[in-house]
Amino acid sequence: MSSESTSLPFESKYWPSKRYSDVYSRSLEDMENFWDEEARKLEWFRCWDKVLDGEPPFSRWFVGGQLNASYQCVDFHDKTWRRNKVALYWEGEPGDSNTLSYSDLYRETNKFASVLRNLGIRKGDRVALYLPMIPELPIFMLACARLGAPHTVIFSGFSARALADRVKETEAKVLITSNGAFRRGKVLRLKDTVDEALTECPSVESVIVVKRTDLEVNCKEGRDYWLKDLLKDAEPYVKPEPVESTHPIYILYTSGTTGKPKGIVHSTGGYIVYNHSVFKWVFDIREDTVYWCTADVGWVTGHSNIVYAPLSHGATLVVYEGAPDYPSIDRWWQIIDKFRVTAFYTSPTAIRMFMRYGEEGPKRHDLSSLKILGTVGEPINPEAWIWYYKNIGKSRCPIVDTWWQTETGGIMISPLPGLDMVPLKPGSVTFPLPGIDAEVVKDNGEPTSPGERGYLIIRRPWPGMLMTIYKDPERYKQTYWSKFPSMYFTSDYAIKDQEGYFWILGRADEVLKIAGHRLGAAELESAAVAHPGIAEAAVIGKPDPIKGEIITIFAIPRQNYEPSEKFVEELKEHIRKVIGPIATPEEIYFVTSLPKTRSGKIMRRVLKAVATGSSIGDLSTLEDEASVEEVKRAYEELKKMAKS
Ligand code: WT7
Repeated sequence: MSSESTSLPFESKYWPSKRYSDVYSRSLEDMENFWDEEARKLEWFRCWDKVLDGEPPFSRWFVGGQLNASYQCVDFHDKTWRRNKVALYWEGEPGDSNTLSYSDLYRETNKFASVLRNLGIRKGDRVALYLPMIPELPIFMLACARLGAPHTVIFSGFSARALADRVKETEAKVLITSNGAFRRGKVLRLKDTVDEALTECPSVESVIVVKRTDLEVNCKEGRDYWLKDLLKDAEPYVKPEPVESTHPIYILYTSGTTGKPKGIVHSTGGYIVYNHSVFKWVFDIREDTVYWCTADVGWVTGHSNIVYAPLSHGATLVVYEGAPDYPSIDRWWQIIDKFRVTAFYTSPTAIRMFMRYGEEGPKRHDLSSLKILGTVGEPINPEAWIWYYKNIGKSRCPIVDTWWQTETGGIMISPLPGLDMVPLKPGSVTFPLPGIDAEVVKDNGEPTSPGERGYLIIRRPWPGMLMTIYKDPERYKQTYWSKFPSMYFTSDYAIKDQEGYFWILGRADEVLKIAGHRLGAAELESAAVAHPGIAEAAVIGKPDPIKGEIITIFAIPRQNYEPSEKFVEELKEHIRKVIGPIATPEEIYFVTSLPKTRSGKIMRRVLKAVATGSSIGDLSTLEDEASVEEVKRAYEELKKMAKS
């Protein structure tokens, strides 16, 4: 996307007022007081001594304060009339459903916390969750938070390998899974994956199995327990453990530029305060809001925008278990109609997929309850934005295009209907949230001129910021705080237009965004070379009209391995097995050499130019680092391969 999109004719019915800019400038002029006021909207067991302590990268928020996230999300509401309010409308893929009130949620959270405590979980212990989108997933997260036990949720589409790596690093004592998961009418054997992963995870003492399907599963005596059996001994009340504001609420893994995913650690106090505030500004949350975020709880979007932010407000949530197009392409619209959803949050990939199926699906259902639409995860093209605005929002609902990251904890740049609306521009995330000092800068750290591409950075700490990378503070410093001294580096390219609107262009590093999911090129490459028939591999994200990017692999086969259709299929299957189905490569090309720099770094830029048919760019600048001849030879070869 380029700055040209800003000139797209689009009439917004929302008019600027002074409020956003007033609040924004005040928030930065007096940042600590601003966040102090926000933090007071929550219930703390002990007030903080300092709003902000320490220097970035190790800034700490609300230091000395004590709170409990599960108390904020359930007890707080259970003490009010909200105990009879719907907390969760849950819809299963096969069509079964369940409704939980805030008092149900309170009761279940307590019992689940008791189950964990009976298995020996105490403050600071890690608990791993590998579950489909069933109510037990958010309830177990809250139960962990109640005990002060950081959870690590592993997306249930990840493979045994990916699961084992995460569980091993966090040394989780308990792992929670289900005996199966429904996906497009099929039953996935989650427990088998767990059994495979656990052969190399000695820290796991107990496995809790939630019964979701009729699948028979293996049960290891003394290690595996059915949840329903453990619940028989559960106490009805477990006192919420007061934890320090800086106590980790969770660890969530995300991909970076090396083969090893990063365990992002979030604090309790800063994270909850930040998400509570931004959720109100972005989604204009009200007592009668029915909020549906279609993400899986296994990603940060689900952590912040399904569990902690909406529940901290006592909002009514919709949680759907299955695939968007199952059993038919209008399933989502049917759910919006059924639960009278008012705020709907999804990804550009999903919107583009529905766009391809046409307007008939949404037309079959009453979508008049909708008030706000949101999108997240990757840049949205203006065409998809307008389709969403017209066909889902019926030209009545603002779209909040929200930019943020696993690391930022919560939404950072977005329109703010709950605070003040600015005129929207399709494809732009508009302006930074109060307290967020975002800028687009050149290599030298100076702001770019309007329309000029630069790096998106955040100049000051904010409460939702990650605390560190689990077990790797050095990598934390290097990755986020070293490119520009004492500024948070997002790794995204962006531009600011003449009017100061932010436009996110995509990643500036070797991280791919496949249907909004984050995967590192290096991680995919190491998965590819783990196949005995692959000597070397290079991975790029090739632009795709629906998924944003698709995975394209250039691989050098070992001797005795002939490039063939069969080998392509085998390699695809292998990568699905190593990482998970989200990492399925769409295109695989076999080559005999790869363009590299002299120091041995693969030049993915050159490969990308080949794969997209764009200009290979200036190679002369590479003279010192790379064998230009080698690059050119590889380039010609790849071009031939790409054509055949
Ligand atoms: C990366 C972070 C945090 C929610 C889900 C993704 C891209 C995110 C937008 C947006 C353009 C976006 C960026 C960012 N991204 N939101 N509204 N417009 N790009 O979390 O997996 O940590 O990925 O997603 O490239 O760096 P994540």
